[in-house]
Amino acid sequence: MLLLCIESSCDETSAAVVRDGREVLSNVIASQVDVHALYGGVVPELASRHHLEAITVVIDEALERAGVTLAEIEGVAATRGPGLVGALLVGLSTAKAIAFARGIPVVGVHHIEGHVLAVLLEREVAFPYLALAVSGGHTHLYRVDGIGRYRILGRTLDDAAGEAFDKVGKLLGLGYPGGVQIDRLAATGDPAAVAFPRPLLHQDNFNFSFSGIKTAVLNHVRKLPAPPEGQALADIAASFQTATVEVLVKKTLRAARAEGLERVVVAGGVACNSGLRREMAAAGSASGTEVFFPSPLLCSDNAAMLSVAADAYLRAGVAAPLDLNAVAGWPLDRAGQDLSGKELP
Ligand code: KG4
Ligand code: ZN
Repeated sequence: MLLLCIESSCDETSAAVVRDGREVLSNVIASQVDVHALYGGVVPELASRHHLEAITVVIDEALERAGVTLAEIEGVAATRGPGLVGALLVGLSTAKAIAFARGIPVVGVHHIEGHVLAVLLEREVAFPYLALAVSGGHTHLYRVDGIGRYRILGRTLDDAAGEAFDKVGKLLGLGYPGGVQIDRLAATGDPAAVAFPRPLLHQDNFNFSFSGIKTAVLNHVRKLPAPPEGQALADIAASFQTATVEVLVKKTLRAARAEGLERVVVAGGVACNSGLRREMAAAGSASGTEVFFPSPLLCSDNAAMLSVAADAYLRAGVAAPLDLNAVAGWPLDRAGQDLSGKELP
């Protein structure tokens, strides 16, 4: 089955053509990061407008790069939620319009479902596995028993890890989004320079909290005689990243052990972080847990990641009605049920 997938939940307009939910023929991503960088964060109204401007161009390019025409597309998928509702509606409405015009089925996919299954576009990972979804809006641990079968084991109680990276980046004057900049600076910094807290690390649950680390960085910076630069700046970046990564790694592997899961998948934009990739891989091999990361392009927001679930849903005959609406808040453990009510393969 040849699918056209559309993602527009935040500040990336993306379209992909994927065969049989695995073979990515194209995956075009138009980032609005330069637009939002001026404001230090995503401005929802601007995001919607830029999605509107970009969406048909991005779809045309995805079809062209894949070497297929719209007439050959057999189903359409779009992110239904969670995300900015105005942004989601651009992609979802476009998907429904194409489905209506072409007489083909459409399906709405959960954004995080896309993230936690994206790794399957590159390699087989047997179910069940533990997924750490770590992005600008999410820091969640899921037990993934199959497509459409997810159970939340833990989540952040305040900021998402990516949000903390971005806020710390901003307060260090690194621009938006801060995650990539902190990652780059951390490479030359001393991770033991500043002892930032490791929130909830010793609590007997799988929840996270990152706003305390962010405040600790702010307090540290305020006490300095001048805004940090050079080596001092790199040291703060490295110390912050190390504290964040340590909590993510230890809690994830603890959850895997508690659930008896031998495989861990790390997904979402923060899964691009080199410290997280290195430390999770090392801790995984020390504890006999297999750790999988999608390649960076498939970690960040992209449309191809929707195809794994979309293909399974459409094969199971679970198409959405044309009045399907976007949902800003949508817990992943209810996504499969909401779409289908059927047990999926
Ligand atoms: O999954 P994603 O592209 O969008 C959301 O669904 O949120 O994740 C974006 C987040 C941003 O907070 C960004 O700063 C963070 O991922 N990020 C990183 C890195 N690359 C992206 N954080 C830390 N290190 C990175 N290398
Ligand atoms: Zn995302």
